[in-house]
Amino acid sequence: MRSGTDVFAVSAHCSHYHGPLADGVVVDGGVRCPWHHACFDLRTGEAVRAPALSPIDCWEVEQRGDRIYVKSKRKAAVSKAKSAAANAASRIVIVGGGAAGFAAAEMLRRRNFGGSIVMVSNDGAAPIDRPNLSKDYLAGSAPEDWMPLRPDNFYAENDIDLRLNVEVTGIDAAKRTVTIAGGGTIPYDRLLLATGAEPVRLPIPSADLPSVHTLRSLADSRAIIAATNEAHRALVVGASFIGLEVAAALRTRGLQVHVVAPESRPMERVLGPQLGDFVRALHEDHGVVFHLDDTVTAFEGHRATFKSGTKLDADFVVVGVGVRPRLTLAEKAGLKMDRGVSVDESLRTSDPSIYAAGDIARWPDPHSKANIRVEHWVVAERQGQTAAHNMLGLDQRFDAVPFFWSQNYDVPINYVGHAEQWDEIAIDGDVAQKDCVLRYKSQGRVLAVASIYRDVDSLKAELAFEQGREP
Ligand SMILES: Cc1cc2nc3c(=O)[nH]c(=O)nc-3n(C[C@H](O)[C@H](O)[C@H](O)COP(=O)(O)OP(=O)(O)OC[C@H]3O[C@@H](n4cnc5c(N)ncnc54)[C@H](O)[C@@H]3O)c2cc1C
Ligand code: FES
Repeated sequence: MRSGTDVFAVSAHCSHYHGPLADGVVVDGGVRCPWHHACFDLRTGEAVRAPALSPIDCWEVEQRGDRIYVKSKRKAAVSKAKSAAANAASRIVIVGGGAAGFAAAEMLRRRNFGGSIVMVSNDGAAPIDRPNLSKDYLAGSAPEDWMPLRPDNFYAENDIDLRLNVEVTGIDAAKRTVTIAGGGTIPYDRLLLATGAEPVRLPIPSADLPSVHTLRSLADSRAIIAATNEAHRALVVGASFIGLEVAAALRTRGLQVHVVAPESRPMERVLGPQLGDFVRALHEDHGVVFHLDDTVTAFEGHRATFKSGTKLDADFVVVGVGVRPRLTLAEKAGLKMDRGVSVDESLRTSDPSIYAAGDIARWPDPHSKANIRVEHWVVAERQGQTAAHNMLGLDQRFDAVPFFWSQNYDVPINYVGHAEQWDEIAIDGDVAQKDCVLRYKSQGRVLAVASIYRDVDSLKAELAFEQGREP
């Protein structure tokens, strides 16, 4: 790979999901992966941008005349300049073992933080690859060992005190302690809140039946997989990203799948009518039956009744009607709130010892020039990493362009930027042919770019946003 006049030899595949790095884009001595926009330093191999967390291999290269010789493999290295900064705070507590919490803990140790790290999670599973819970894992094509973000021994080996099945119930900001359920406190010098979000439940009779599922955790995904045994028909409530990914995964398992949702087009609110129609047609081609402009009003045993009067029998139900950020701890601690936990550009809350990252954080986004909160895996990880640097006193600004992807069957949709509203969608290519870039504009300005199988365009759009150019 070339960056300016320099030539580098690195692994061909991304350490996240093996994306082909040769199809990516080289920017400032780093190669960006075409699939989910991870970035690797070409000199060291370090994964400098999530979602990749592990380095790629690098080889020594020698240029002699017009020939390039690839020699021995280099030892993995991280940027030493930053490693030195280590010990601003000696006790760091992280509440949450998800994307942001894990990425923070991993980065703290990557930067040689020598103090204590306690990571508390009320989940029973160590940090996992949550996006996969509704994709390959649910479809049955991802083995168990793909799911943990790191093997179990990672935590002990890196001196990360991971406490699973432990609920944090309160924060005493004056004493700098967190309280855990059942009694006991944990002191901190810096605290990271990364409590994520929880599925919204349907406020209707019998929504708590055992056959009615939501999906957030590994246990939830396993429960749905168990329900597929001997099941013939599933009902998905909600045409959200998660709902539709679940529909695709269950079709892959050969179940009949019905989707009921109040909107007239799936995903229209986020992706617009063209992609909404495309996604609907894609699912219908795979045999999904939609009941749009409709909702469930009650469950009785295995029978769902819709507002329209339709009754549908299903062996089990998956409800994907959105999530709600888990804000109780921050609210009770008296932190400044703004439809989420309000943070500054360094992800610090109104209490200088407390940071927030991931689905709960509303931050000043320099690209949209608005305070935004999103529910994206890559954003949560990158925020966890920025918070880690700032807890070490490294003064890093969170200025990443929001990015998310979704996958239905074999069709990925990538999205960069942030557009809550737009007045125009400019389409380049052909949506039906799965070869397109959609630019969401407001008063002529591009706010976000969605694409299907136009990975380089998506990377270039991200770069343009970063550089303040029109993508
Ligand atoms: C099925 C599914 C598929 C998804 N697919 C995609 C995708 O394709 N692309 C994308 O961009 N995003 C996707 N997302 C969204 C993405 O996973 C989230 O944005 C991301 O996980 C947010 O990270 P987080 O660290 O803020 O929260 P989480 O990852 O939810 O982690 C929060 C953690 O906090 C713990 N916790 C909460 N409260 C407490 C407490 N009081 N005490 C102790 N622990 C607590 C929880 O147990 C959990 O471990 C998906 C989400 C789901 C559920
Ligand atoms: S495969 Fe490279 S970022 Fe996901």
